Amino acid sequence: MISTYDYLSAKLCQEAGIDSVLVGDSLGMVFQGLDSTLPVTLDEMIYHARAVRRGAPELFMVVDMPFMSYQVSVEDALYNCGKVLKETGAQAVKIEGGEEVAELASRLIDTGIPVVGHLGYTPQSVNLFGTPKVVGREEEEAERLRKDFKALESAGVPVVVLESVPWELARELTESSEVITIGIGAGKFCDGQVLVFHDLVGLYEEAKPRFVRRYAEGAKIFREALEKFRIDVETGDFPSEEESYGA
Ligand code: KIV
Repeated sequence: MISTYDYLSAKLCQEAGIDSVLVGDSLGMVFQGLDSTLPVTLDEMIYHARAVRRGAPELFMVVDMPFMSYQVSVEDALYNCGKVLKETGAQAVKIEGGEEVAELASRLIDTGIPVVGHLGYTPQSVNLFGTPKVVGREEEEAERLRKDFKALESAGVPVVVLESVPWELARELTESSEVITIGIGAGKFCDGQVLVFHDLVGLYEEAKPRFVRRYAEGAKIFREALEKFRIDVETGDFPSEEESYGA
């Protein structure tokens, strides 16, 4: 799974044989330059999801429900999640949390809205967590995570993203249930892995968590291309005759 936000990158994901795309609210940081996911709106998620859908029409698409679009009431959440499915063509929505969202997850699923869970480090709780951290190293935290995972499983949630979880715990959760786990910073024993497109291709240089593997130096390549363009314009090398229209 790749988290991505636009037509072109989604098209590349489909061409590369990736299984599914997540329109992640990490777009707040990576696309909008914010310092958290909290200000991202439902309309922004829908806007990006439509572009991703056009780029990757054949992939399973999950859309993140942004902060406060599902926490106020079950009615609100049903309406907002339904809106996302209707207006974007997504196959599922992703919500953060465990026991506290289990009842909602069950209502959504009963209504025909597939749900992907998200446990471990949950970026929408940044004001509780502080900076990103590994969740589940302390026994109390690990126990909480097990309970949250169980609650989602009992609610019928088929897929759970595990973010920044010790690999041993992620393995235990993966092997102890039928729920499909997708890891990001949760080790290799999860059923699948997700990375953010801009991290994977080296475009996002602001942070590089331990779990990111850069498969390209995208920012470097693009910066060099832009520098070459600037120099070519300044020296009169661009545009050439072949790159110009005659009368
Ligand atoms: O917002 C996002 O991109 C995510 C992934 C990191 C799992 O939630």
